[in-house]
Amino acid sequence: MTKRFHVSRRTFLKISAGGAVVLLGGGYLFRDQFLNDGNPSSTATDLVRGQPLPIPNLMTGTEIDGKQVYDLTMKQGFTTYVPGRQTATFAYNGNILGPTLLMRKGDEVVINVTNQLGEPTTTHWHGIHLPAIMDGGPHQIIDNGNTWQAQYTIMNEEATFWYHPHLEGKTAEHVYAGLAGLLIVKDPQNELALPDQYGIDDIPLIVQDKIIDADGSFNYPGTNFGVKGDQLLVNGAITPVFDAPAQFVRFRLLNGSNARFYNFGFSDDRQFHQIGTDGGLLERPVALTRLRLSNGERAEILVDFTGQENSQVRLVSFSSELDNINPIWNSNALDDSTFDIMTIDVVSASANPTTALPTSLGSIDRLQEGQSTRTRSFVLEMGFSGPMTINGVSMDMNRIDQTVKVNDTEIWEVINNSDMPHPFHVHDVQFLVLTRDGSPPPENEAGWKDTVLVMPRETVRIITHFSDYTDPDKPYMFHCHILEHEDAGMMGQFVVVE
Ligand code: C2O
Ligand code: CU
Ligand code: CU
Repeated sequence: MTKRFHVSRRTFLKISAGGAVVLLGGGYLFRDQFLNDGNPSSTATDLVRGQPLPIPNLMTGTEIDGKQVYDLTMKQGFTTYVPGRQTATFAYNGNILGPTLLMRKGDEVVINVTNQLGEPTTTHWHGIHLPAIMDGGPHQIIDNGNTWQAQYTIMNEEATFWYHPHLEGKTAEHVYAGLAGLLIVKDPQNELALPDQYGIDDIPLIVQDKIIDADGSFNYPGTNFGVKGDQLLVNGAITPVFDAPAQFVRFRLLNGSNARFYNFGFSDDRQFHQIGTDGGLLERPVALTRLRLSNGERAEILVDFTGQENSQVRLVSFSSELDNINPIWNSNALDDSTFDIMTIDVVSASANPTTALPTSLGSIDRLQEGQSTRTRSFVLEMGFSGPMTINGVSMDMNRIDQTVKVNDTEIWEVINNSDMPHPFHVHDVQFLVLTRDGSPPPENEAGWKDTVLVMPRETVRIITHFSDYTDPDKPYMFHCHILEHEDAGMMGQFVVVE
């Protein structure tokens, strides 16, 4: 299908006033339920903001029989966002989000995940290379009251990964309720001088947005377009304050939002350096003043606060500068504005500061196009009321969409044939972005990734290598990481076979 229409928000409202199902050119059905703004505003006025940035507990695991063992329990918790009110949340081992799991490359890990939520869910290790039965995707359901044991060897590079529920049709709700945590992989061989004092100069930032009602509850309106909130939470606290030591600080940014993209930067437009992508370090630090992250993507950045004691700067999202992100997406005022995410107060330097920016971070063993044995295409499409599809079909738990041979290198060509952007995510592997509409990706995307944003009408080509694990029956997923799109069917399954 070629270019069809471009409707403004006003046109939507006019159509919806008619109240009926309207068929527009291009064959898209519009129904009232998709024509409203979808995302209501928070009705809470008196919110607890500006608290110190919470740092999730670091869990290093317990060594038992040569394996590192971690225990996670999912259950309901309570957090206060409106004074005097309790917000019911879901979390791992606490009240909101979960501990940061620290794992070493080469370690064999065992994670016991207990479900006390009162409903089934799963826990997926996003970005980790592992056997499909250990992936925690929609097939590894943990019923209420049960414990699921995941066990695998860490083969990934040093980077920031994360874990979150992945139940068919329920991922968006479960993540929104608070279930998500970071998983940091460290490579004992890595001797780079990077800030690594967790909670001091090595800071996890899980950025999410919520709609909060006057009674304190998280409002989950469940629109298919994607739920975007108007309150910004970092590590579970609304626009918190972080006391940064006056030295190089490493931030591990995760866009843990259901549907909102961020265009990170600082209120004084200062330069910072990206050192890592989803699945590894870049070859060298890349200087930036803006960093776009879509849902599920991570980035590690270094910010230099040396000599800046007693100053203040804000981490913000310059969302008004994002082009072509919301052409047909009714949402809320934040989409067209620049908004605060966190305040940074610079305080005295800590012991053992990192004093210089490394010039080189190592080399990436780049897969070459010539190594690829096969190119597959993935066409992303959506209707406003119809299904979200990849190659014309919506997710079906009983259908394997792609069969890949182990030890093959393949090019996957992701074609966005819709007017909304979609972050495309592949389980099990890390990939390299070859081209965006024929051109090489920007320098800060030239590292290992597991999620890549594909803009409206854009084609992104990625290259990856499938290794180690085969299973003809248990699939891995590929999907859009806007969680509502994933739940609405923009997901498919692949198996890796002998
Ligand atoms: Cu972050 Cu299929 O998931
Ligand atoms: Cu994943
Ligand atoms: Cu999508």
